[in-house]
Amino acid sequence: MLQESDGTAAQRASREMAWPTPVARGGYRVLSRIADGSEELLRLKDGLLASKARIDSKYFYDATGCALFNAICTQPEYYLTRTEARIFSRYRAEILWHLPMGAQWVDLGCGDGLKSQPWISAMGARRYLAVDIAPEAIDNALRQMVALFPAMECAGVVCDFSQSLSIYDILGEQPESAPVMFYPGSSLGNFTPPHAFALLKTFRKNLAPHGCLLIGVDLVKDARVLEAAYDDAQGITAAFNRNVLGVVNRLLDADFDPKKFQHDARFDPRAARIEMRLISTVDQRVRIGAESRRFDKGESIHTEYSHKYTVEGFGRLLLKAGFARHRVWTDPAGWFGVFLASA
Ligand code: TRP
Repeated sequence: MLQESDGTAAQRASREMAWPTPVARGGYRVLSRIADGSEELLRLKDGLLASKARIDSKYFYDATGCALFNAICTQPEYYLTRTEARIFSRYRAEILWHLPMGAQWVDLGCGDGLKSQPWISAMGARRYLAVDIAPEAIDNALRQMVALFPAMECAGVVCDFSQSLSIYDILGEQPESAPVMFYPGSSLGNFTPPHAFALLKTFRKNLAPHGCLLIGVDLVKDARVLEAAYDDAQGITAAFNRNVLGVVNRLLDADFDPKKFQHDARFDPRAARIEMRLISTVDQRVRIGAESRRFDKGESIHTEYSHKYTVEGFGRLLLKAGFARHRVWTDPAGWFGVFLASA
């Protein structure tokens, strides 16, 4: 009865809308729980017309953005992906020892799903649930999972979990199988601290009473190391950042010229975060749908934060969000943390 007492009216409505029409594809079902897009587009437009222009980072991930992001992850300066992977492979057996067997593996922001595969084979997951904002990513991840683990049930949920996540009903179909949420890559750092806190609380509510969260978190370190990671020598991160303007052009019928914006990534030690922006290199006027705005030379559009935590700080946040207890594993240099938190 957990799902009934915990579900808000909106959550119940989305459930009712989503269930009758799951899209069954080759051996798996995909449910769409995406909000009405028009309100989202208004918000995107408002952000660009605001005196301090901003673009929500979820718009980075069109097909080109996803490919560029995968390329970022292999850059020598971008230590996050490989450091996390080393922690995972070094401590996999130890972490597994604390995970429930036969779990439902929930891959939050699954991307290509590759990071989940070694966990699933090692733990014998009963079910794989791919959650992402990009339907193509979900299809891609599920196709590979079905081929690799034919005995495991696979399903996908297309949703913007930064706005709302309610998978109580889906998880409740297998009440004897505890859910494990997997949120690697320090993606939580892309949300402001209040938003990250709210997300952790939502995760915990979906996981209660016996699930757990396995999450990768980038840690505070030397500003030069951090800034290099978000401004690689090959210019891949710069291309990734500029690519969002092409996405905006398509979504809002705007005419941003990506060549007239320069990528910038700075570490703000007081806020403990990388701030990413696109800086106008000339005085210009940009049309945004039926409207337009001026960008002075040097004026910027905020595109992304990447918050860095300390081991203690993130532990406190987990506790405040209601997680009962947690463990943490780091690399020898203490650059990255992998936390396992029990609901
Ligand atoms: N979660 C990743 C991070 O904060 C996302 C990311 C890496 C990113 N590089 C980026 C987002 C560059 C925008 C631009 O590390």
